Amino acid sequence: MTEPLESVSWAGDAVEYIDQRLLPSELRRERAHDVDSIVTAIATLAVRGAPCIGVFGAYGIALLRSQIADDAAFHEAAQRVRSARPTAVNLMWAVDRVLSSDDMLQEAQAIQREQSAVDDAIAQSGLELIPKNARILTHCNTGPLATAGGGTALGVIIRAQRAGKHPHVFVDETRPLLQGSRLTAFELQHAGVGVTLQVDGAAAIAMAAKKIDLVIVGADRIARNGDTANKIGTYGLAILAAHHKIPFYVAAPRSTFDFTLAHGADIPIEERRPDEVLAFGGAVVAPEGIDVYNPAFDVTPGRLITAFVTEYGVIRPPYAETVPALELRPNFSVLMRA
Ligand code: MRU
Repeated sequence: MTEPLESVSWAGDAVEYIDQRLLPSELRRERAHDVDSIVTAIATLAVRGAPCIGVFGAYGIALLRSQIADDAAFHEAAQRVRSARPTAVNLMWAVDRVLSSDDMLQEAQAIQREQSAVDDAIAQSGLELIPKNARILTHCNTGPLATAGGGTALGVIIRAQRAGKHPHVFVDETRPLLQGSRLTAFELQHAGVGVTLQVDGAAAIAMAAKKIDLVIVGADRIARNGDTANKIGTYGLAILAAHHKIPFYVAAPRSTFDFTLAHGADIPIEERRPDEVLAFGGAVVAPEGIDVYNPAFDVTPGRLITAFVTEYGVIRPPYAETVPALELRPNFSVLMRA
């Protein structure tokens, strides 16, 4: 077993990142050195995963402040970074936190350090939910690549493996951009966890025939009532899990909760370009001129979620009470120092 890959790091005159679009066939490190390359890395999903784009955006703002002396021009560039993707609230949260700090680089570094500690605490909180020899279904990618720390849902699974629980994970390939097959299968293999890859449409039969014990996924934004935006297909999985009476868990840090939103209908859902659906591996797979609907996320109603796994522990319904209570907990950085 080797150490996790560092998806984002500070390089002094640039923000270094692994281009996640090329994995698993190529491990290439790139450098974002100006506002265009920062925004493009986020928008093209070279850097992706809600907490990871938060860490990357935070470093991006610190870099831009060191380059752009004019305040108006700097704030315009910062807004471009903040809105490079609309759904994951971690990006806005991290950018705002850096913007309101006295030392932007120090703040960005603190955000990355905290993310590792937060992921560690999420993994520890989630351990109690994973039975020995559990057969787990997951979707998209929530590992170290997605957080620039130890991972959220995948962090829980990897911790369970290290605790000797021997989980086996059924991974949805996660169309259209295959974060499940390219990244999750890769990270689980890397961590020595048993893994079976399946097409997204196999989730129902896997629950029925492969004796799945639980589903655990990550999140991009969670409203005050527990409604959760995550990678497209998550909502369907939650319905399937309810039908099969399988627990459905969402692992996410507090920075993914948007306490300003009453419910999920208010979460902005990113719609991406049709060509992500029209072609597969460079080959055209649909008739020319066809209409395409390509939302990158969907919203799972809180009532379908068995529990949230956070750095503050496991949170259960009624979410209208337990989620707002999370906002009042002391900052994790304070707890880290204690
Ligand atoms: O479009 P992506 O790949 O950035 O989507 C990522 C997801 O939906 C993840 O499940 C989510 O960000 C949680 S990452 C720990």
